[in-house]
Amino acid sequence: MSRVEGLRANSSQFTLEGEPFRILGGSIHYFRVPRAYWEDRLLKMKACGLNTLTTYVPWNLHEPERGAFNFQDQLDLKAYVGLAAEMGLWVILRPGPYICAEWDLGGLPSWLLQDKGMQLRTTYPGFVDAVNLYFDELVPVIKPLMVKGGPIIAVQVENEYGSYARDEKYMPFIQNCLRSRGITELLLTSDNWEGLRYAGMEGVLKTINLQRLSFGAIHHLADLQPQKPLMVMEYWSGWFDVWGEHHHVFHAHDMLAVVSEILTRGVSINLYMFHGGTSFDFMNGAMDFGTYKPQVTSYDYDAPLSEAGDCTTKYQLLRNLLSQYHSEPLPGEPTPQERRAYDPVAVQQHLSLWDSLHFTCQCVSERPVNMENLPVNNNSGQSYGYTLYETTITSGGTLNSRNNIRDRALVFVDRQFAGCLDYKTHELALPDGAGAMTLSLLVENCGRVNYGKALDEQRKGIVGDILLNHTPLTGFTIFCLDMKPGFMKRLMSSGQWKSDFKSPSIPGFFQARLYVDGPPRDTFIRLPGWGKGVVFVNGQNLGRHWCIGPQLFLYLPGPWLRSGENQIIVFEEQKVDDKILFAENPDHGRTIDVYKLPFCTLL
Ligand code: GLA
Repeated sequence: MSRVEGLRANSSQFTLEGEPFRILGGSIHYFRVPRAYWEDRLLKMKACGLNTLTTYVPWNLHEPERGAFNFQDQLDLKAYVGLAAEMGLWVILRPGPYICAEWDLGGLPSWLLQDKGMQLRTTYPGFVDAVNLYFDELVPVIKPLMVKGGPIIAVQVENEYGSYARDEKYMPFIQNCLRSRGITELLLTSDNWEGLRYAGMEGVLKTINLQRLSFGAIHHLADLQPQKPLMVMEYWSGWFDVWGEHHHVFHAHDMLAVVSEILTRGVSINLYMFHGGTSFDFMNGAMDFGTYKPQVTSYDYDAPLSEAGDCTTKYQLLRNLLSQYHSEPLPGEPTPQERRAYDPVAVQQHLSLWDSLHFTCQCVSERPVNMENLPVNNNSGQSYGYTLYETTITSGGTLNSRNNIRDRALVFVDRQFAGCLDYKTHELALPDGAGAMTLSLLVENCGRVNYGKALDEQRKGIVGDILLNHTPLTGFTIFCLDMKPGFMKRLMSSGQWKSDFKSPSIPGFFQARLYVDGPPRDTFIRLPGWGKGVVFVNGQNLGRHWCIGPQLFLYLPGPWLRSGENQIIVFEEQKVDDKILFAENPDHGRTIDVYKLPFCTLL
């Protein structure tokens, strides 16, 4: 493939291959959709009348340990972009390195925080060096896919830096990271209305992010950048959810009215998200504007394609609208995938948290150490999951966390549950006992903040001293429970699983078998009667469950099941039931209309 001219922004209209071009884009993140479904989702995108796929690139997954890179399997970016090309879609790549995206630390690897002086998203040398090494690996993967040999027509520089704006040398540095490594395509920045004030660079096209019909915003962009094409880089088709609040919905007709108006005015658009998918594993981020609020596992986003890939009413309306922008009829929609509500399965075996500790990496330290600085994972520290801190105490009394718990700790004395510490509760009364007792704090990293000014403060685990009767505790043994596949495998082959279900020890791991007759289908796991924890299917971490909702189901993609026997393990912190249920469709529970939220919460 050799093209004369890529995407150009030299007048009020984009041109591509020398012809006027309107970007009709949609975001689907390859890392949020099982690889076996990439093709299905992209076919549905094409059939909806979109012409451009946009995706972020998550640095934390591509470099899980410092210097160890992964662009394979679920992270095969080259294959994903190649598939888009096969479908006849153009691609706009958003490689960050910071991506926001309701993703842990906005996609930045947690090991960056091992340096106590780290200044993320600045030209601080420790950050610059790490970005350079990452781009040295990433750019050779994407460069052959640029428009001369592939479908990538533009690349975004960072993400909403106008809202962070801590270092004026930083954006030129990222721009140079791309240019100096041979990326010659059009570069863009993407900012919300507030951020636009501080956004942009010479030679880089500014775009805007919004949800409501606010032509003030679009005029503002036009004023800042006369005689340039206008683009809404993130048109928010819905919104994301946090634990303990409502599921956000954005009504199809409300969305359609805005999209239609944007198109009528000749503006290019990208739907964020066209298909949200799932923040599997421990990948959800969190918000913190004064109160820490972790996001849920589902990234359904109330987008045109649902979490499980269903074409929603929004999809149908959008397709009708977009068909008017094509001279040829749109391709037919792929047939919907069948789903199954499998019969409930009974929990057969359980293994207590305490018995699982032999299978973890552990270390000792006089004072508590935050998880990123633990000497594990080739010294890249622990990134996600739970960390257990144990020490010996000789009396009860008042335990004071000094607000050093990130984010939530279950406290045990001699393995008996004593209470919970978090951002609101800093003190706990511990019972007295005879002689030495073991104090255990099981600390969960509920997700690092992905937006706002607090990125540098996202260290997790215990981040300072914990006091008992005003004296700092010392002499810790620390167990790393990141629950990665290797650990789950070791757990499985352990002979310590117990079948007697009368008095299961909680927290613990609970195992059931699902027998699939015939080809596996997608389903949703439901856990009524359970409390809070994590679900694994055939070793794959599906994400977190928590009875406070709003999410009360977990998406289980068919390709991660096999015909015959499948193993489900629930890690449970609070309360268990003796069975696991399945549903064909998710129940979104309490919902709230995004139009009813104050405008500023969506900036
Ligand atoms: C911003 C970010 C996105 C995402 C959305 C909200 O626009 O750029 O990554 O976080 O907000 O969903």
